[in-house]
Amino acid sequence: MNLAIKTYQDYLSVYKYSTQEPENFWADVADTFSWKQKWSNVLEWNFKEPKIEWFKNAKFNITYNCLDRHLSENGDKIAYIWEPNNPSEEVRKLTYNQLHFQVCKFANVLKANGIKKGDRVCIYLPMIPEALIAMLACARVGAIHSVVFAGFSSQSISDRINDSQCSLVITADGSFRGDKKVELKKIVDEALPSCPSIKKCIVFNNRNFDINMLSGRDVFWHSEFAKVDELNEPEWMDAEDPLFILYTSGSTGKPKGVLHTCGGYMVMVGYSFQTVFNFEPQQIFWCTADVGWVTGHSYIVYGPLLNAATSIVFEGIPTFPDAGRFWDVIDKHQVNIFYTAPTAIRSLMAMGDEFLEEKNLSSLQVLGSVGEPINEEAWYWFHDKVGKEKCPIVDTWWQTETGATMMTPIAKLGIAKPGYAMYPMPGIQPILVNEKGEEILGNGVEGNLCIKFPWPSMSRSVYGDHNRFQQTYFSAYPNLYFTGDGCKRDEEGFYRITGRVDDVINVSGHRIGTGEVEDAINDHECVVESAVVAYPHDIKGQGIYAFIICDKLVDDVNQFKIEVNKIVSERIGAFSKLDKIQLVKALPKTRSGKIMRRILRKIAEGDISSIGDTSTLLDPSVVDKIKAGVVVF
Ligand code: WT7
Repeated sequence: MNLAIKTYQDYLSVYKYSTQEPENFWADVADTFSWKQKWSNVLEWNFKEPKIEWFKNAKFNITYNCLDRHLSENGDKIAYIWEPNNPSEEVRKLTYNQLHFQVCKFANVLKANGIKKGDRVCIYLPMIPEALIAMLACARVGAIHSVVFAGFSSQSISDRINDSQCSLVITADGSFRGDKKVELKKIVDEALPSCPSIKKCIVFNNRNFDINMLSGRDVFWHSEFAKVDELNEPEWMDAEDPLFILYTSGSTGKPKGVLHTCGGYMVMVGYSFQTVFNFEPQQIFWCTADVGWVTGHSYIVYGPLLNAATSIVFEGIPTFPDAGRFWDVIDKHQVNIFYTAPTAIRSLMAMGDEFLEEKNLSSLQVLGSVGEPINEEAWYWFHDKVGKEKCPIVDTWWQTETGATMMTPIAKLGIAKPGYAMYPMPGIQPILVNEKGEEILGNGVEGNLCIKFPWPSMSRSVYGDHNRFQQTYFSAYPNLYFTGDGCKRDEEGFYRITGRVDDVINVSGHRIGTGEVEDAINDHECVVESAVVAYPHDIKGQGIYAFIICDKLVDDVNQFKIEVNKIVSERIGAFSKLDKIQLVKALPKTRSGKIMRRILRKIAEGDISSIGDTSTLLDPSVVDKIKAGVVVF
């Protein structure tokens, strides 16, 4: 069947085919990639264990598909345009030939440093081309990359390294973000003494910062590079071999190592990139995410390269040297497709329209939004002021666990509503369920969002803890994948994601687990217990509000807040800092000891008139005390 989607009618017929014959549909898509050996079965699955296997027994390498297969026709095409943090510094461009050369060489560096198929490699790098080269080199030799966002603390790095037993870490001396100096090697040095599995640390000298090199463990990227040749035969991977681990927060416990495998991920990420954005070969694509998050994995690294695209890698931040930077970069590199996050849009909108004046922006053709629900005001600003009312906006809903976009308006089909993820991608079967797990049929309804049929890029497990995978995603509703999101289906059948229904907080598009933040707060010597909830925040989408019980009198709450935030920054990262705290004597708990966050959320939102039923609480009077004591710092 012809899978091209040019009109909404095309979409409807492709969608129909993709759900009536999912295996044929995905096999058609998979046929557009290059395989050393074809699969024996398209799909084997059950959501009970769960076991999900796509393209079983197929052999290939994702980097062959990202690089080698493009070289004959597109070897001299630019793969990446790197825009430095400081606009007065030089832009770096890498053609497909050059990127291939770098990846092959670095793959040989990894091998020379003892890395083989299946080993875990931690990557802690700024947004420089070497971050992408390192990821691709891992994939080329069959090592599993675990990228840790370069804003995470040393404690978070060591937790992640230890969880997946990485044997090698790749970092840099440091970088600048805006005018802030970030000393990555120092942070890694603090992490590694508690990481016995690490044998080697490869350091890319990015800025000539003063760093310590531990002899026997630390080696320089450049000197290792000089020792190896550039010929590298990719490791021929099985479709179900792991490709990467990416840690993400859930409602309880430590972060989970979301595990993705090679084949299905490649097929759906490559397909979705092309389909969602209606990507055409001559277009310049820019995704402003960081490679430390899944958006960077799928739509900076793998998606664009699988489509032989030219894309921008941006080292900086939207507000440096001023709040017009995004628009300058778009004009400088004539960006056609611009994919960013609602939080960035809201913060730039708040800075005022003067930063858009005198920017041309006429190269823009398609805009995208990802990471959190986009409010109507931000959507219209993006549409009217940035897109000059001529660019469709693709509001792509997906998750670290889904690997690729699941619901979105497809660019240029002309059907969109502000704040709506609209309709499922071909092959994706969403359903809404009520509390009892019953499917909610019809339109004009709201419920919890589940997916009832597997898709190729779905996570296969939580690294080292399959039981947790089952519990987190497949136990709430039997035979369904539960997303953790609430969702509306409007009168016309279009979907709108309403946000998390679990205890996950989404601050500026970063997923933060309440439990992790509470653990950090509780480390303060004065704290007995704490409970963290989200409240609406104009720029960040959600802010963090902590209710804290102390066993000592705290004289200076502002000072106490600074101390607690220092711990939170050290334990997790600065992006998880508390926005507001309230000291309380007790927390509202059920008789079984569970904190009723629903009530705390209402108080944090300032909505104290509609707290609802408190009769199931052990001590309902606690709620009045908290309400009466609303002094927030
Ligand atoms: C959660 C996943 C998708 C990659 C980046 C975030 C929220 C994501 C949207 C959207 C409304 C969205 C959901 C989801 N989310 N995209 N377009 N509209 N909500 O990945 O850190 O795994 O977070 O982000 O709540 O569950 P993540």
